[in-house]
Amino acid sequence: MATGSDRVAVELCKGINGLDKVVLRESRGSSVEVYLYGGQVTSWKNDHGEELLFVSSKAIFKPPKAIRGGIPICFPQFGSHGGLEQHGFARNRVWSIDTDPPPFPTVSSNKAFIDLIFKPTEEDMKIWPHSFEFRLRVALGPGGDLMLTSRIRNTNADGKPFSFTFAYHTYFSVSDISEVRVEGLETLDYLDNLQSKERFTEQGDAITFESEIDKIYLSTPTKIAILDHEKKRTFVLRKDGLPDAVVWNPWDRKAKAMADFGDDEYKHMLCVEAAAVEKPITLKPGEEWRGRLELSAVPSSYCSGQLDPRKVLLSS
Ligand code: BG6
Repeated sequence: MATGSDRVAVELCKGINGLDKVVLRESRGSSVEVYLYGGQVTSWKNDHGEELLFVSSKAIFKPPKAIRGGIPICFPQFGSHGGLEQHGFARNRVWSIDTDPPPFPTVSSNKAFIDLIFKPTEEDMKIWPHSFEFRLRVALGPGGDLMLTSRIRNTNADGKPFSFTFAYHTYFSVSDISEVRVEGLETLDYLDNLQSKERFTEQGDAITFESEIDKIYLSTPTKIAILDHEKKRTFVLRKDGLPDAVVWNPWDRKAKAMADFGDDEYKHMLCVEAAAVEKPITLKPGEEWRGRLELSAVPSSYCSGQLDPRKVLLSS
């Protein structure tokens, strides 16, 4: 399948181990790859062809193991916040292309995009006894921005509501974790996964990294910035419907314990995950929830003072 105008293209092809993937391309050169396995974005490149997401060199592209890197979807459970398997099962199911998605309020004609859908099988409903339709639109904007929109609808016929937690578990590629800072989470409350999910308050400074981190920041602003000093690049996350933000880096000891992660790779990745964890989302039959994440990567001369990181956060 290859569609699109001269400006954008959408192509269905085979990825690693013959798994189906969709490639979105924009005329200026940026691109995105999405595996149907997990509905998972595994690559996002800017118009210079530089990879912006981290995928482990040891990632296993083989069900039922979730792909280590890119943007796994955590649903219907984030982490171990419930009785299901870690991060739920959406990330290790094969999604389908949604050929006839319900319309979006905004027009996507200038973007390359693909619509995916995940509906539970009878086996899935033994694990989580609810019927739902999870629609995911992955879109690449003309300037190379990556947009993900999730629409989750309760289709239970038995009149029952359901509740879920959710995250876009985004692995950003960074030059050197010790040179990175995250702006937008200062002074916020967080649950510390490394301290029995206890609640603490963050200090006033931007977040920097010198050891393992696994925190769920609560009631976060819609905009968060990751400043990569060495690469002179700033990632800007804009999110909607996703009040929390998880920040994770396994550091050396946990990196060594993960079979699908290189021992030193923790230096070159950072997860900042737009999420809804603290307050689960509840949907009655017929109701739909929407959660949106927009990522952009902008050149920053942060160290030379040309671009004030605070302006990145404060600009609309
Ligand atoms: C993060 C969690 O989101 O994902 C961490 O906060 C977890 O606790 C990490 O270790 C990776 O999870 P997994 O299941 O992909 O190894």
